[in-house]
Order: sequence, then C-alpha cells, then structure tokens
Amino acid sequence: MAMGSVSRKTLVGLGRNVGFGGIGYVRGVKTFTLPDLPYDYGALEPAISGEIMQLHHQKHHQTYITNFNKALEQLDLAIAKGDATAVVKLQSAIKFNGGGHVNHSIFWKNLTPVREGGGEPPKGSLGWAIDTQFGSLEALIQKMNTDGAALQGSGWVWLALDKEQKKLSVETTANQDPLVTKGSGLVPLLGIDVWEHAYYLQYKNVRPDYLKNIWKVINWKYASNEYERESA
Ligand SMILES: [Fe+2]
Repeated sequence: MAMGSVSRKTLVGLGRNVGFGGIGYVRGVKTFTLPDLPYDYGALEPAISGEIMQLHHQKHHQTYITNFNKALEQLDLAIAKGDATAVVKLQSAIKFNGGGHVNHSIFWKNLTPVREGGGEPPKGSLGWAIDTQFGSLEALIQKMNTDGAALQGSGWVWLALDKEQKKLSVETTANQDPLVTKGSGLVPLLGIDVWEHAYYLQYKNVRPDYLKNIWKVINWKYASNEYERESA
C-alpha cells in the first residue's frame, strides 16, 4: 500500500480508551484480540511513518497475539492432560508473545499526534518528579536515548514508577520481556520499542535518529495520568 493512502487511512471504531484489546474464546479458552489504535496510521508523521505504524500494528502486534493465543490453548490442553513438562515448556512462548502483546498495547498509548498534544512536556506531579530526580526533562530523554541506543539486539527502554522505592526509574528489557520481569513493583509509564521493526523502514539502521524523533509524538499526558493513578 502506498504511503499516501496509508496516511489517510482511518480506523473503524476508534476510541480513546484503548486497553489490551478484546477477548474471545476458543474451545472455552480466553483469547486476545488486537486493540484499535487511538489515531490514524499516518497521524504520527513525520516522526513515524504511516507505513511503519500499519505494519507494526497489523502484522507485528497481531503475530504476537496469534502466537500468544496458540500457546494459551496448548497450555490449557497440557493442564487438562496433567502434562507438567508441556506446561513448563510453554512458558517461554507465553512470556515472549504475551510480553509482545502487553508491551505493544502500552506503546500505542504512549504515542499521540502533535496536534493532540504529542511531545508536550509533562505537567503536574510527573513533571516535578522528573525535574527532581533527573534534573530536567531533557536529561531524562538523554538518558533514555542513551540506554535505548546501547541496548544490544532487540528490546525496550522504559520510564517506570518504582512503587516500592517510590521513585522513577529508567529500565531496559530484552526481547519482548515486559517491565514486570525486572521487578514486580515497577509500573510502566512510558515504553519505547527499540526493535528494528519499529523504525527500520524509515530510519534504516540509525536507531539514535528514531529515538531523537519519537519524543515529538510522546503522549506525556498518558504517562502523567498513569503516574498520578499509581502514586495515589
Ligand atoms: Fe514492536
């Protein structure tokens, strides 16, 4: 599909409350479905192309969901059979594909078009916490870009609320490991996908340029709301 037509694409059933998709049933097992994006595929241009957004959402995220559902069906069968070995064997597929679904569901909400406030610095208590802990928003962005660029292979860089330490934390996770694998008290406020599929079509191998530009469409309002809700 041409980039122009991708940019104009309007999704059906757009809503502001994008959760983790719908839930269906296969042979009595709950399954997951792809959540809608709260904006058009081309709405984040020029920071992220519509072509990337469409492939990322419709192909990559969908594949994680498809494989997560398969693994859950297999898990259900393995439990029904009392096959402990099969149950354990499925854990890595569940972590990878389930993590992919969880991470991408957060990622779409971390982005928003410029005309809807993308890139506008956080206000309120999150803005204050960032300044207090990191010195400035620019210093935090610099740290996340440095950590994201240095992450070997594929993974994610996160701004987290550490609920146990009651402070913000910058974390990275490998592959599709969700943030919770780094600590059960860590809540994702902002996650940036540094897999090549998130930027290669537009930025080729220059991950730092992708990281530099993504801040223009970051939804700080979402991160602030999460921070206030989880800090309460
Ligand atoms: Fe991704």
